[in-house]
Amino acid sequence: MSVQIIVGAQWGDEGKGKIVDHLSEKVDIVARYQGGANAGHTVVIGEREYVLHLIPSGIFHPHVRCVIGNGTVIDPIALMDEIKQLQQLHVDIEGRLLISHHAHLIMPYHKLLDTIREQTSEKIGTTGRGIGPAYIDKVMRVGIRIVDLLDRTVFVAKLKRNIEEKNKILKKIYGNPELDVEKIVDEYEEFDKKIDEYVTDTSLYLNTALREGKRILAEGAQGALLDVDHGTYPFVTSSNPTSGGACTGLGIPPTSVNSVVGVVKAYSTRVGNGPFPTELSDPIGDRLRATGGEFGATTGRPRRCGWFDAVSLRYSVMVNGIKEIAVTKLDVLDEFDHIKVCTGYEVNGKRLRTFPTDVHTLDDVTPIYETFDGWETSTSSLTSYADLPANARRYLEALASLTGTELWIISVGARRDQTIFVD
Ligand code: IMP
Ligand code: MG
Repeated sequence: MSVQIIVGAQWGDEGKGKIVDHLSEKVDIVARYQGGANAGHTVVIGEREYVLHLIPSGIFHPHVRCVIGNGTVIDPIALMDEIKQLQQLHVDIEGRLLISHHAHLIMPYHKLLDTIREQTSEKIGTTGRGIGPAYIDKVMRVGIRIVDLLDRTVFVAKLKRNIEEKNKILKKIYGNPELDVEKIVDEYEEFDKKIDEYVTDTSLYLNTALREGKRILAEGAQGALLDVDHGTYPFVTSSNPTSGGACTGLGIPPTSVNSVVGVVKAYSTRVGNGPFPTELSDPIGDRLRATGGEFGATTGRPRRCGWFDAVSLRYSVMVNGIKEIAVTKLDVLDEFDHIKVCTGYEVNGKRLRTFPTDVHTLDDVTPIYETFDGWETSTSSLTSYADLPANARRYLEALASLTGTELWIISVGARRDQTIFVD
């Protein structure tokens, strides 16, 4: 039994795409367990940059099979675009992509409702990809799943019922024009013909593979602090990026999981609204954004930037069961003379020992920082841990000891060869 889970341990955009691509070399299957086209996983191969939204980041390794699990929500338009893009780049996906028949479909009304809700005062700062509304329908038990496409009568009936209800909401609550059922049916029939070859019972597939001794990487999207149960609710996404989500989102047993790796950025970023204790709304924050190229891969939005937060990380390590971390974008800190790490929170003069997930307390905390000397030299061409400047190693080792983890991978650039394994 061999499953390794790769989770984002912060607010997403930690560089999971790069790490998963790298680790894919040594596995048989990469399986994505939650989220949808809200994710943007960037993989750089040679001089080319690829941004994946739904397809697992193992797709660039020809020997790897890629699974989109039942826990995901699939936007047919985004998926077809992504498949087309890969075909144009001559990435052969024939027989290598498997999509769960239990994954839910994102319909045009989900995107519309997402966008409309974001115009109200209860704005979350979503990606506008229809993620929340699609998961609402899943939990409401009115969602349309990939399997429903197999039977036209069932599909059309479900769609009609949904559209009737959504039209009432759109018209009566939001004063929006109504949607045309026939047009949507036609669009989805087109999709149905194209997707058929990929659809299967992926839980059965994965469990069979496990029995045969195959190695599986479970790829999370977003990050633990955006988890709908464990994140900074309500400023979260609508699924479970934490490691537990891998079991429910793929239909594999917890006993098959060997390890959980947390991907963390050497500093912090967040896109969208919600508390962010170490945020820097100053020239240092701007410098992190500019040097780190911190703009959303899906929406292009500038990311909020700040120092590494060991308090939230300790929480993330606990909830996910992280033993090893992969620290990304270390090179972004190369030119800083001083680097800070948040080691505690203070609220009303009292020090907090644990991470408060309620947003009101989090909004009020003052971070307590420890300052480290920078290394002020480029790390981007280094290939061994021992070659890193002493101050860089000191910084990394502090991150590990403050969060109770071990350093496994250090990434010093976007390319595959800019990856250091720590023995
Ligand atoms: P949604 O997932 O589009 O509903 O957005 C909910 C929150 O999660 C917003 O703050 C988004 O910015 C954030 N979010 C969603 N996907 C990602 C991601 O892949 N990286 C970083 N933040 C994300
Ligand atoms: Mg991203």
